[in-house]
Amino acid sequence: MRDEARFAFLDLAPGEESFRDGVLHGLSGSRKAIPCKFFYDERGSALFERICGLPEYYLTRTEIAILEENADEITAQMGAYSRIIEFGSGASHKARILLQALDRPIAYVAVDISREHLREAAAALAEDFPEVAIIAVCADYTSAFASPSLPGPTGKRVGFFPGSTIGNFEPETVLRFLANCAHILGPGGEMVIGVDLKKDSRILEAAYNDRAGVTALFNLNLFERINRELDGDLDLDFFEHFAFYSESKGRIEIYIRSLADQQATIAGRRFNFAAGELIHTEYSYKYSVAEFRELAAGAGFRPVDTWTDPRELFSIHYFRLR
Ligand code: TRP
Repeated sequence: MRDEARFAFLDLAPGEESFRDGVLHGLSGSRKAIPCKFFYDERGSALFERICGLPEYYLTRTEIAILEENADEITAQMGAYSRIIEFGSGASHKARILLQALDRPIAYVAVDISREHLREAAAALAEDFPEVAIIAVCADYTSAFASPSLPGPTGKRVGFFPGSTIGNFEPETVLRFLANCAHILGPGGEMVIGVDLKKDSRILEAAYNDRAGVTALFNLNLFERINRELDGDLDLDFFEHFAFYSESKGRIEIYIRSLADQQATIAGRRFNFAAGELIHTEYSYKYSVAEFRELAAGAGFRPVDTWTDPRELFSIHYFRLR
């Protein structure tokens, strides 16, 4: 009865125009870049799901193991009648672990930019958790969006931001994002955040350069998306995926590299690419527990607890607003 499953769907219509503007603007500067939120069209979301299952990509399975291992402790912290709002919910796999362990949760708000994936995930959740109000919000959570009011007078409001997506923001943007979360959650709000830990660069670099080449497909899908949606003629045979760990910056840097001097037309405009030129697509910052706590403190979040796996690959932080 999936079609019958009831959930609220709030479409804040994250603009299609912004993809065009973002790309044209990003490719016009002297250092070309494309904002990483554009990775997640339908195909990109599907490719990312595949990345999460790759042997080298330890992040997802480690975070899930930490959640499962500590679900009782984490959800005890949330208490009864809590309302969870997840930023960038994808298939909501991780939220299910919390919803299963939680004591009578009232509501789960799933915020995601990928409309159809969101709809499917919400329908499946509504079916599996009939006692929880499921609210799907199609929005770009990197901009301050109008949050729906969370139902129920009692219980905590808890933001959930797994996947180390927070590592994809510049540290200044982390502060802006957390301040926005604080605004949405209100006084006394809490946040559960998954953060990838600093570690041996070989482990980190393998995670972003998998042998099966799925990460390369995911990265290059940005250019395919430009061709599909912005009437582009980028020649995918002459661009490649490039990712490495910078110890000094504490981040994985991800680029698309041009393999030749070439030109392309996108949305009627011409762009030049030099051989070896790097088009930046994403950073993935890695933080020690102490580093991330210090950063979050800047947005008023106090550490309540932190869980890691035995190999200390990944961390899950629990914060409370002052
Ligand atoms: N949040 C993910 C991460 O930083 C996103 C990601 C994984 C990613 N693999 C990627 C982004 C490859 C761009 C390219 O780990």
